[in-house]
Amino acid sequence: MQSIFEAIKDCAKAIDIAIKNEDLGFAKSSNASGEDQLKLDVKSDRIVEERFKEVDVIKNLISEEKEDILELHPQGIYTLCYDPLDGSSLADVNLSVGSIFGIYKGTPEGKNLIASAYVVYGPRVEIGFVTQEDVRPALFRLSEGKFKKISSIELKTKGKLCAPGGTQQHWSSIHKGFIDSLFANGYRLRYSGGMVPDLHQILLKGGGLFSYPGTTDKPQGKLRQLFEVLPFALIYEKAGGEAINDKGERLLALKPKHIHDTTPCFFGSKSEIEALKSAYGV
Ligand code: F6P
Repeated sequence: MQSIFEAIKDCAKAIDIAIKNEDLGFAKSSNASGEDQLKLDVKSDRIVEERFKEVDVIKNLISEEKEDILELHPQGIYTLCYDPLDGSSLADVNLSVGSIFGIYKGTPEGKNLIASAYVVYGPRVEIGFVTQEDVRPALFRLSEGKFKKISSIELKTKGKLCAPGGTQQHWSSIHKGFIDSLFANGYRLRYSGGMVPDLHQILLKGGGLFSYPGTTDKPQGKLRQLFEVLPFALIYEKAGGEAINDKGERLLALKPKHIHDTTPCFFGSKSEIEALKSAYGV
């Protein structure tokens, strides 16, 4: 695991330099979900691929930016699923963006996720990292060229922030009613449109709810299971919160049929998730 985490730290430093210096224009390609790729998405993907060629325990790479599975080391035992630059369209307006990594042993699905990491590229560069064996996720900050552990991450039972994803006109009436009730109870809106900084803010400010529901235009939501949703589900559960879908099932119980499958998802402290389950009747 140490060699994998070292590689993630190297990727974070290299991607941070790319964000600060590279052309932010479009590449002439789209990813597997049909989104136009930026040159920076392609570059960040290459940074991860090249660095993990040196990590021989990694058998396969599954990237948000690649249509198919890429085999790296036939004798490896782990699959690395990653989104090299999540929320990349926010880079040109100078908002925070992130990278997400999930490490799976065996078939990539929730129960086989053994560790996850996310990187926030903001005014500072920080990594949240957790393994199945850890009690709490750890937070690292880049300082003088090195990542140093600064704290562990722990959610309170109830928070104050609400990050509601998706277009409101496409929400169900149940979802709209529930989000309205949070605001009626004093929750504050915190939504940048980048899931990494939005989830990170809730984790570090003690709690709240991030939601990306199924909508009339995207019944299975937008966020991808293997490299967005499941890695954060492990972080949230280990931080003392919960992560569920719209049926009340743990996200970590999910088994995608296809590597780019999405799911409705809700991440939060225990109190908000209880309220959500009761509103959804699950
Ligand atoms: O997956 C890409 C992403 O940019 C996430 O980082 C973010 O949470 C989401 O899309 C925002 O989507 P929307 O603009 O539909 O709320």
